[in-house]
Amino acid sequence: MRFAVFASGNGSNFQAIAEATIQGEIPGELAVLFCDKKNAYAIERAKKLQIPAIAFSPQDFATKATYEAEILHLMEEEHVELIVLAGYMRIIGPTLLEGYKQRILNIHPALLPNFPGLTGIRDAFESGVHETGVTVHYVDAGVDSGPIIKQEKVLRHSEDTLASLEQKIHQVEHRIYPEVIAEVLQNIQSKEERKKV
Ligand code: GAR
Repeated sequence: MRFAVFASGNGSNFQAIAEATIQGEIPGELAVLFCDKKNAYAIERAKKLQIPAIAFSPQDFATKATYEAEILHLMEEEHVELIVLAGYMRIIGPTLLEGYKQRILNIHPALLPNFPGLTGIRDAFESGVHETGVTVHYVDAGVDSGPIIKQEKVLRHSEDTLASLEQKIHQVEHRIYPEVIAEVLQNIQSKEERKKV
């Protein structure tokens, strides 16, 4: 079963997912990395891992709908069955949501519904909470909203700095996202097999 990862920047989650796929821990094929920024570091990682990468930005299109229609076309051409957002810092619009109903996952570095948005780790750190964490969820039309699949807590100790908290959260992300993707792909596959019977 083929899936795609979408990223906007560093791509450390993309790399963890790609490595888990190469090691056979994810029962699927990472068909393509899509980036909305042509200079995203994730693209360098894809080159090293020999995974096809495509980048174009919404600014290259007249509307968000035409931008997403182009992505949708690309996903269908690549026979992608699941889209995995990994640091893709855009709201998914109706075009992609319609095309991939219940087939788009996202990871967020906080215990949703707390601290959604672009700076979840910093917001949790600055608010002084004693625990934060990681959430993996299905994507809907909102910002970091949609049915939650898995959450894991990360404790924030008094000696933690923003950097040490970030590091702990990323370690959890890199472990649990591949696990959740594996489970979701297995579920899709078993549902499709049951349909055939
Ligand atoms: C990750 O921490 C991810 O959870 C977060 O962006 C980071 C991307 O890092 N996503 C969000 O904040 C979504 N609202 P990466 O590019 O190194 O994988």
